[in-house]
Amino acid sequence: MTVLEILKAPDERLKQFSEEVEIFDDELQGFIDDLEETRQAGPGAVGIAAPQVGRLQRVIIVDVSNTKKPVPNHGYMVLINPEITEWNGFEMGREGCLSIPDYTGNVIRATDIKLKAQDRFGNPLEYEMEGFEARAIQHELDHLDGMLFIDRVVSRRTDLFQRKVYKKGASAKK
Ligand code: NI
Repeated sequence: MTVLEILKAPDERLKQFSEEVEIFDDELQGFIDDLEETRQAGPGAVGIAAPQVGRLQRVIIVDVSNTKKPVPNHGYMVLINPEITEWNGFEMGREGCLSIPDYTGNVIRATDIKLKAQDRFGNPLEYEMEGFEARAIQHELDHLDGMLFIDRVVSRRTDLFQRKVYKKGASAKK
């Protein structure tokens, strides 16, 4: 397995729309393993999306089971062609991103979502999610549509925060 290079903003590839996955072959399985290794190498990364390593396909990985404060979660998930089918409620929360290592920001997201996706072999999946896990999913889905959390902060003046220390185990990044 390989740790892949993470693209950093303002790389234009982070602003592209990613294509649906149609072929679930060995090459895809190898890529998913590399993507997970890359996520684990990132400091405190709870999620990662394929376009963050320059592959413009609808593949994300999310795992919020290791956060400091326990949150409701489904553990480690590889989600292919994910699609949110229902949104409910909204709340402000702090986000970070491997592609924007120097900042965190306050972003409004839905509190509860329903999600459809495929697993790494193309089998259908359905989830209901809430809170931080739902937030992580919405953040990663944005990557598939070329959107970063800094595009969603209400005010760059009051809702963006420079990281003081960038270290492993610091606040979660996606
Ligand atoms: Ni991100």
